[in-house]
Amino acid sequence: MTDHQTTHDADEDIRNRDIRIFLNGDIVHRDDARVSVYDSGFMLGDGIWEGMRLYDGVWAFFDEHMDRFFGSCKAISLEVGMDRAGIAEAMRQTARANGMTGDVHCRLMLTRGIKDKPFQHPALSTSGPTLVIIMEHSRPVNRLQSAGIRLASVPQVRGLPHSQDPKLNSHSKLNCIIACLQAEAAGADEALMLDPHGFVNTTNACNFFIVRAGEVWTSTGDYCMNGVTRQKVIDLCRANGIPIHEKNYSLYEAYSADEAFLTGTFGAQTPVASIDGKPIGDGSRPVTAQIQALYKALIAQHVKDNA
Ligand SMILES: Cc1ncc(COP(=O)(O)O)c(C=O)c1O
Repeated sequence: MTDHQTTHDADEDIRNRDIRIFLNGDIVHRDDARVSVYDSGFMLGDGIWEGMRLYDGVWAFFDEHMDRFFGSCKAISLEVGMDRAGIAEAMRQTARANGMTGDVHCRLMLTRGIKDKPFQHPALSTSGPTLVIIMEHSRPVNRLQSAGIRLASVPQVRGLPHSQDPKLNSHSKLNCIIACLQAEAAGADEALMLDPHGFVNTTNACNFFIVRAGEVWTSTGDYCMNGVTRQKVIDLCRANGIPIHEKNYSLYEAYSADEAFLTGTFGAQTPVASIDGKPIGDGSRPVTAQIQALYKALIAQHVKDNA
């Protein structure tokens, strides 16, 4: 193991070497799952994706993920070619082909398809969309829960919605990747990104929360991914009497927070150990632990209701 870690670290699982991938209606071994070099996703990052997680046979918050997915596709005039029942069926087929029922992460990807010529204009993508579903056996590593993730604030900022809306889960993730590279160069695991005004916004791959004097703070949501887990945490705080604020705050308040954590479908809530080398709190994380327990119970109830 290197000393580098990411929020998406999972236990090694050799079954992933032989998984079956959904590729435009076919189920193929991962070694045979190939798209054209003319594919709009490969050539231009012109596509939309979703990350989802399977718990005991139920895809957590499938409706919310589909709201975001279909909303993003509509925003970029990308015809999905099927409704959400069709997506659910494609995901069922993929899970069945892999004998998967739980501890599974899914990356659903839709691109504008194969282009006639290697140029940008969307009208050159005439094949119809490319739909790929990758499902992997995936259990987040335990180590992150105790050690926490190390963040560095970076010069790369989240964009304004009228350049490339950060709410679009687009295949092109260069803005986030540049941020991550900058964090790595600073000796951290992942990046803490600011908004165009200098307020703390989000990390390169997850949403970001701090805890101060028993209150939970997160950004206004204006420049970050509209994370499904982010919204669940906000709703859980509201329903359980934990003060929650969506507001502007700066690094000054983040450095001196009592606790900080990230949210995302993969890792649920991941504690933050440090920001720019400054340890966060004293290492005890009572509010994070309370939210983790509430989220676990929410998933259990969701699975029960949708089994
Ligand atoms: C940049 C970014 N932030 C946050 C998230 C977390 O969102 P969710 O909770 O829906 O997984 C994602 C996941 O796609 C993301 O790409």
